Amino acid sequence: MKPRFITFEGIDGAGKSSQIAAAVALLRTRGLNVVQTREPGGTPLGEKLRELLLHDAMHLETEALLMFAARREHLAALIEPALAAGSWVVSDRFTDATYAYQVGGRGLDEGRFAALERWVHPHLQPDLTFIFDLDPAIAAQRLAGTGVAPDRFEREQTDFFRRVRAAYLRRAAADPGRVRVIDAGRTPDEIQKELEEIIVSHCLK
Ligand code: TYD
Repeated sequence: MKPRFITFEGIDGAGKSSQIAAAVALLRTRGLNVVQTREPGGTPLGEKLRELLLHDAMHLETEALLMFAARREHLAALIEPALAAGSWVVSDRFTDATYAYQVGGRGLDEGRFAALERWVHPHLQPDLTFIFDLDPAIAAQRLAGTGVAPDRFEREQTDFFRRVRAAYLRRAAADPGRVRVIDAGRTPDEIQKELEEIIVSHCLK
């Protein structure tokens, strides 16, 4: 079976983390080798860039370039070798996040985004992407309830997340065969069941 590259996306607080763990467990029970990773991050250099990105103020184009710099390293050092060796790769975020946060949220020029995407991965896209879709007001309540100190993105206002959400939905509409929008307002059990059905029908049959 051809190894697949699966990504999880959504605004902060949409609840993707526990679902990623469940999806990885599902694939492993089928006997598949799975590499679980995240962006920004996934490599030693990428994790250093993540620290800067999550905590240091910077120009929006610097932010976009560092996201793609971390991604270039991630592809070269982890994603491409893993897929070539037959492992599945499950990533918490990838390029759709740059479209949603930097283009949608911050107002990065679409042409610049498209040029970077073409440069960094001209021939590769995830096989399957889940976008966890949730009203930003509800996501903000969930984040506040965790008691964890918010990072630079999580401190943004609801309007920012409305733009991020809208950009995710545009990206999903542009590529419906790859991207599935998941209603993240339901119970974790309901969401997990839907994800399993999609993964089985899309990747395991
Ligand atoms: P996230 O993946 O949500 O991690 P955690 O659950 O540990 O907070 O945090 C990463 C943040 O980085 C998130 O707020 C979205 C942001 N981000 C971008 O703005 N652009 C990108 O290209 C990526 C990958 C992430």
